Amino acid sequence: MKDTVRLKLNGKSVSLQVDPSRTLLWVLRYDLKLTGAKYGCGEGLCGACTVIIDRQDTRSCSVAMSDVAGKELITIEGLEQNDKLHPLQEAFVQHDALQCGYCTPGMIMSAYGLLLNNPHPTRREILRHMEGNLCRCGAIHGSSTLSKPPHGR
Ligand code: FES
Ligand code: FES
Repeated sequence: MKDTVRLKLNGKSVSLQVDPSRTLLWVLRYDLKLTGAKYGCGEGLCGACTVIIDRQDTRSCSVAMSDVAGKELITIEGLEQNDKLHPLQEAFVQHDALQCGYCTPGMIMSAYGLLLNNPHPTRREILRHMEGNLCRCGAIHGSSTLSKPPHGR
């Protein structure tokens, strides 16, 4: 049964008629055509679906629509302003931190979530925060894309 779910999405108030038990990731991708968040594992394990909910980076594959009512969401599509990439996106480009289009949006949103709550993280804090974002295509060896330096592979 559908219900009205109101939330703030990328700075705009949104009112949706949805089954409240549906998963946020699918509503973003299929109903709202915001395809930046990706389906990787569907179990909260890889980070490909990461979005920000009330300033916390969150796995959208593991969140029901009923849990986002009244909350403030930011997706990767909400970072760019006035056709300009967010400085964090620029930094990923500048420092060659981009991987594939599938996992990179989730990585950027995880990093964004870290910076929202800790604007000056140490290298160790960055590694710890980002190590849950996994490469699942096999291009990057090891369980984490960022926690192991290239010479450690
Ligand atoms: S698809 Fe959500 S964590 Fe993997
Ligand atoms: S999933 Fe993106 S590089 Fe492997």
